[in-house]
Amino acid sequence: MKISGIKGFSDVLPGETEAWQFIEERAREIFARYNFSEIRIPILEKTELFSRSIGETTDIVEKEMYTFADQDAKGSLLTLRPEGTAGVVRAYVEAELYQVEPVRKLFYLGPMFRRERPQKGRLRQFYQIGAEVLGRGDPLVDAELLLLLSDFFVTVGLDGLTLELNSLGDVQCRPRYRQALLAFLKERGKKLCANCQRRMDRNPLRVLDCKEEGCMKVTQEAPSILGFLCTACQDHFEAVERLLRETRLDYKLNPRMVRGLDYYCRTTFEWTSARLGSQNAVAAGGRYDGLVQDLGGPSIPGVGFAMGMERIVLLLGMKETKRAPRPSLYLAWVGAPAEAWAFPVVHRLRRAGIAVEMEGEERSLKSQMRRADKLGAKLVLIVGEEELRAGKGIIRDMDRKEQFEVSLDRIEEDLSKRLVTANHEHEAR
Ligand code: HAM
Repeated sequence: MKISGIKGFSDVLPGETEAWQFIEERAREIFARYNFSEIRIPILEKTELFSRSIGETTDIVEKEMYTFADQDAKGSLLTLRPEGTAGVVRAYVEAELYQVEPVRKLFYLGPMFRRERPQKGRLRQFYQIGAEVLGRGDPLVDAELLLLLSDFFVTVGLDGLTLELNSLGDVQCRPRYRQALLAFLKERGKKLCANCQRRMDRNPLRVLDCKEEGCMKVTQEAPSILGFLCTACQDHFEAVERLLRETRLDYKLNPRMVRGLDYYCRTTFEWTSARLGSQNAVAAGGRYDGLVQDLGGPSIPGVGFAMGMERIVLLLGMKETKRAPRPSLYLAWVGAPAEAWAFPVVHRLRRAGIAVEMEGEERSLKSQMRRADKLGAKLVLIVGEEELRAGKGIIRDMDRKEQFEVSLDRIEEDLSKRLVTANHEHEAR
């Protein structure tokens, strides 16, 4: 009996992994340019970390977390991380990273887990590339993160994205907005879905995020949060907008964007693509100035984002990438003595940094040449009994379709030299 994988959990197979590596490498380069360091945090955390940070009334905490009781005596509840921010902040507070260096720019890559309904661009295990800046409350860093994302999209060749921007205010001004919104919703309560009616009192902003048609219709006319910002939040938001204008980064205001996590304040954003259907956010994030303190640390501001790997791969259409690794050399051997000669030579060549492939069983030269071609080898070294006796092998340059003799006793130096030239020509094609 075959055992299949779990619904919403997918494999990334050879042929696809090259696209992933390409994206990850570009991300690492950009993060280095913006002075970010990598952080690696556990996949499993105490459940309360997420309920306290993401918020009890969010979809994620209410119904999407993979939570289970640990085998310990207390039956402590553990959860597979649904996102990275909470874990990063927990680690930051636990290690007191702020003691040594007041500003931390951190990035992470890895799988996240949400029990959502799987569909195109939406999985139950999905990968995020995320970044968090802790210790900076200024608007420059908000703009910097958006520019970093924009640079990243250009570098990987992703275009046609829209940046949507909003401010969610802070503890000073949001309560006033919350009240006004709640009053507005109360008047129209009957038209809202059961879920929104239930949680409206505890978290009216969630209603703005509801995808039910009735709720979307009602909230069309809802008051805008941008009309309620206090002076400090207003100044902050205007500064972010000015910096984006000065650096010519286009954006669209979206005062209805509330995000699916409760820790946000002030600047929030989403990069969306019209080509992704309903799961249109490629990257999203914002500021969370109260979170470090909520998780037991000092009052230190934070801001960050995360992007969805699968969605980037989908948009780049790189699923069937041609960037699969290619051996530089294929060693075709014929006869047992040639095999015995070839195995240690292949080992030495690999040690010398050359990507080499050879067969483990006797095959005709014709079938080996076909295989070398399929693998995309640049050079093929042909060695049979006759070649061994003469101390001379045959090299075939697969790109140029040329063939010549080489001396077998200096084969490593010879091949290293040839492959440098072949590599240059190969890349120029
Ligand atoms: P989020 O908006 O929940 O934010 O997720 C960020 C991105 O992860 C989304 O824009 C999307 O590309 C991807 N994503 C989310 N859920 C799925 C899914 N089920 N399947 C595939 N991709 C998905 C956060 O997670 C915040 N921690 C971002 C952040 C960091 N805010 C501040 N710092």
